[in-house]
Amino acid sequence: MGRNVQVLLVDPDPDHRETVKRALAQRSIAVVGEAHYGVEAARLAGALQPDAILVHLREPFALSLRTLEAVQAAAPNATPLVISKDLTPQTVQKAMLAGARGYIVSPVVPETLEATLTTARARHQVLIDRATSHSVRELPAAGAILTVFGPKGGVGKTTLAANLALSIARQTSAPVALVDADVQFGDVALSMGIEAPRTLADLLDAMARGETPDIKPYLAQHPAGVSVLAARHRHELSAPADPEAVAAVLRELAQTFDFVVVDTPGTYSAAVAAALDESTTVFLVTSADMASVKDARMAVDALRREGFSEDRVKLVVNHATNANSVTEADIARTVGCDIFWSIPHDRAVPVSTQRGEPLVLADPSAKMAKRVQAMAAHIGGGGAGEDIDGGGSLFGVFRRGR
Ligand SMILES: Nc1ncnc2c1ncn2[C@@H]1O[C@H](COP(=O)(O)OP(=O)(O)OP(=O)(O)O)[C@@H](O)[C@H]1O
Ligand SMILES: [Mg+2]
Repeated sequence: MGRNVQVLLVDPDPDHRETVKRALAQRSIAVVGEAHYGVEAARLAGALQPDAILVHLREPFALSLRTLEAVQAAAPNATPLVISKDLTPQTVQKAMLAGARGYIVSPVVPETLEATLTTARARHQVLIDRATSHSVRELPAAGAILTVFGPKGGVGKTTLAANLALSIARQTSAPVALVDADVQFGDVALSMGIEAPRTLADLLDAMARGETPDIKPYLAQHPAGVSVLAARHRHELSAPADPEAVAAVLRELAQTFDFVVVDTPGTYSAAVAAALDESTTVFLVTSADMASVKDARMAVDALRREGFSEDRVKLVVNHATNANSVTEADIARTVGCDIFWSIPHDRAVPVSTQRGEPLVLADPSAKMAKRVQAMAAHIGGGGAGEDIDGGGSLFGVFRRGR
């Protein structure tokens, strides 16, 4: 596959460009054009329509990031990747939000460069094929993958994911899985008060060894009827997740679970991007403060560039703190989409988090719990503690006998 990929190199640094070209040549990958940042990059991307575009990300970042966005507009089917020696999470996040589908560390190692390029291209190609074969993304034949996402930390993603999964399970009696995709720092098991003998990190390790394990033994059962794929063992550090493997796990779970709720980390990564790609619906969570709202705006822009329809991304405002510095009208305006759901601040939430008992179980009549139950009803079509806001459910009415 690598052999046929045609690459446009965007790099104003001649020495660095030579090094990357040599690395690509070693792996027999063709460089079809070279460009500086800005207009030249966009023009060549448009004229050449390459398979992949490698942008050297370096200070000042604004210029390289703007170029990264411009080349995507000029060549939407080219896979954008970034090469940078800056590996700070903030920079990686900026690149991913600007649309990068792969991140290559400089100085480049030819084998790694080829592997990242090939994987990112293959994954992107699947999406391009999907987009061209259906005008509207169809629901997967099996379960719905609902990903709780938000590029800002501490906005209540894990809290929402856990309470939502439990509420959907209770209301629909359908099989529900909750996946903690925050392999490095995930705390879903802790917030649900369960011990997970095996974890997603263990599963990914097995897959990395070339095994094709059955996922069931990796799931921990929550007594309220949700199967939990915990991220990692407590106090254990895991390697970053392989995006392809995460995507494969989610797809497989959706074969047996009607709802697969996915919790994601507070930093954007290739694994998060893979989970988003697999998602039927993305719940983009923001709290009511400007930093979080601005991050949500960037995320919406990035998702739109990736071709996510408006329908597939639902904005959720969670009042994780009671410092409501921004009104909901301003949030909707700044993010550029309607608010799908709003969850009130509730002092009972942190107490339930600490006890490891999600609020929908600890106190179903608490105001936050009622609002999440209503959201679950809206998603699954079951009965709810609150009225469903018109329009019926997202996925039709679900009622299953166990
Ligand atoms: N509606 C709410 N009212 C009050 N407290 C809340 C609410 N939602 C979440 N919290 C509290 O905010 C804190 C952060 O929540 P949570 O861990 O779910 O955020 P997160 O987005 O998953 O964070 P991270 O990005 O670190 O994974 C927790 O202590 C939680 O109890
Ligand atoms: Mg979390």
